[in-house]
Amino acid sequence: MADIPRSALPPGVLSMHVLPADHHDRDWDAIIVPREVKERLLSQALLVLEHGRKLSMLSGLPHGLIVLAGPPGTGKTTMARGLAQVASLALARKGATVLLEINPHAFPSDMLGESQRNVTRLLTETIPEIAARRPFTVVLIDEVESFAVRRSSASFEANPVDVHRATDAVLLGIDEVAKNLPSVLFVTTTNFIEAVDEAFLSRADLVMTFALPDRETIEKILASAIGELAVQWPALLPMTRDTGKLSELAALCEGWDGRRIRKLLLAALAQRLEVARNPATLTWDDLLGAARKKGGVEWAGGAAPTSRELFPDVPKELMHDHDHGHGVHDHAHDHPHDHPHPHPSASLGTGRSTHTHPKDPK
Ligand SMILES: Nc1ncnc2c1ncn2[C@@H]1O[C@H](COP(=O)(O)OP(=O)(O)OP(=O)(O)O)[C@@H](O)[C@H]1O
Ligand SMILES: [Mg+2]
Repeated sequence: MADIPRSALPPGVLSMHVLPADHHDRDWDAIIVPREVKERLLSQALLVLEHGRKLSMLSGLPHGLIVLAGPPGTGKTTMARGLAQVASLALARKGATVLLEINPHAFPSDMLGESQRNVTRLLTETIPEIAARRPFTVVLIDEVESFAVRRSSASFEANPVDVHRATDAVLLGIDEVAKNLPSVLFVTTTNFIEAVDEAFLSRADLVMTFALPDRETIEKILASAIGELAVQWPALLPMTRDTGKLSELAALCEGWDGRRIRKLLLAALAQRLEVARNPATLTWDDLLGAARKKGGVEWAGGAAPTSRELFPDVPKELMHDHDHGHGVHDHAHDHPHDHPHPHPSASLGTGRSTHTHPKDPK
């Protein structure tokens, strides 16, 4: 079994997957970056995972630490997960790879000394125990700025001594793992590289800064996003080949991050009810319109139809009038039909209010 149930996970561990696994293929392919970027990352990962033991004899040994920095939504976490899968594919004949995702917020504690103990337990007990079970281990730490807090700027915080000690424990722990467990690779991400401790960064074998996608990449992300929709609604497939429209749309998305670009598709599907009910009817106008509105809405237009004008023909037997529960006991449930004077709680959201709006838009 590849995925370990959450209840069986050690403290501070968000998830644990044994790779390679088919359903992890998508992440690497989803992130569109120049070829060199992926090659550099994969080479760095494989160098450490495959040859870490030999390289640990060098005086300048690798720490098995990669830092992915950059603005939100630029693909850092997805790329880190994809990297683990692709590295595990490369190594599959030598054995399995465990991908361990750490919750960086599980370690800081209000209790003096506790943060440090938590970090030390993770790096000197939890990770070594898990790493001992399989030949290769990739540890993903998102938001690493809250794990390796920059000591030089933490001096005015509530508990500076504790923050210092926790970061010291991270550094000591990383050094220990580098020496004793050279086939463990840490892949970490951050939006705030200036908040990550300098000594932690100096241990990184690679600090890669992710940038917002350029115009050409935006076009590719849009085509990939439409292509994914076309898997479910094949009528959309021709749109992925309309380079003219793709480039017109991409022009409207300049300066957006990858997450926002992918979300544009969802916004376009939700511009009109017809499309939301049948995504196969999506048009370029929906996409271009959603992009002009930046995924939001123009606060304009005439009166909206009422609920029953919108959906007049839902049969009575599909209505669930008596199929709900309320915190407050509502006697109306006992006699739903003969209730001339609504119980006081009826006005607290039981849906039985007889109130009519003075300016009914009908
Ligand atoms: N360059 C890209 N190409 C294709 N898709 C991208 C790209 N960058 C981001 N995305 C998409 O945006 C979404 C968010 O990506 P992800 O969560 O990996 O970003 P992140 O950099 O970790 O963001 P954060 O810093 O907020 O955690 C994903 O669905 C991903 O596929
Ligand atoms: Mg992330």
